[in-house]
Amino acid sequence: MASFAGSLFVFVCLAATAIAATAPAPPYYIITNAETPSLDRPGLTPVGKQRAEDCIPEVFSQLNIGFILSCSVDKDGEEGLGCPVAVKTATPLAQALGLNITLCGTGEEANDDCVHDKVHAFLKASNQSALVVWDATDMDSLLENADVNDAGLDEDTLGTHADLILTVVSGKRVGQTSMNCTGLDGPA
Ligand SMILES: *[C@@H]1O[C@H](CO)[C@@H](O)[C@H](O)[C@H]1NC(C)=O
Ligand SMILES: *[C@@H]1O[C@H](CO)[C@@H](O)[C@H](O)[C@H]1NC(C)=O
Ligand SMILES: *[C@@H]1O[C@H](CO)[C@@H](O)[C@H](O)[C@H]1NC(C)=O
Repeated sequence: MASFAGSLFVFVCLAATAIAATAPAPPYYIITNAETPSLDRPGLTPVGKQRAEDCIPEVFSQLNIGFILSCSVDKDGEEGLGCPVAVKTATPLAQALGLNITLCGTGEEANDDCVHDKVHAFLKASNQSALVVWDATDMDSLLENADVNDAGLDEDTLGTHADLILTVVSGKRVGQTSMNCTGLDGPA
């Protein structure tokens, strides 16, 4: 009996290990700020506002998001100028999910590991996904700092199309898709 219980225990442990080992790492997602007016005029355009208020909450509330990260303007006020609109883009979703928005700095003085460390600390401790909402003009440094392998990424698309979602699993870029916002992302 004791040995039966012992083998059962070993079996359960092995099964638990197998499940833990095969459970896929939760993905995380990267998007940019929604549409903004030209010439650094502040805020979102009407389309950007609609994306932030209607579409992003609808799309991402289906994706089991438990952590939202955005960015802050650097100390010199030279980089990350799109961060206030990135935060604005993320805010309706954060409110819908009852989450706070965590910030990482941009620019020379910023901690390069901030995005990587914060996202991975969350993913490790959770079974939910994370969303990064970043300044569209600072995507190169985001991908570098997030340790995303950007080989094969369409660089011209990056930061120029506000509907783009990058899906990242285990530090590798695994997919690009559109938010498919009704009335915004289809042909006219
Ligand atoms: C959000 O931040 C506030 C203020 O720091 C805190 O009281 C609250 O618990 C936080 N909420 C979540 C979901 O972490
Ligand atoms: C995810 O984790 C929470 C607690 O951290 C738990 O209540 C929930 O059941 C888990 N969900 C799944 C699908 O494992
Ligand atoms: C957007 O539409 C494409 C094509 O139908 C689909 O493959 C993709 O999964 C959709 N994206 C989302 C976020 O649902």
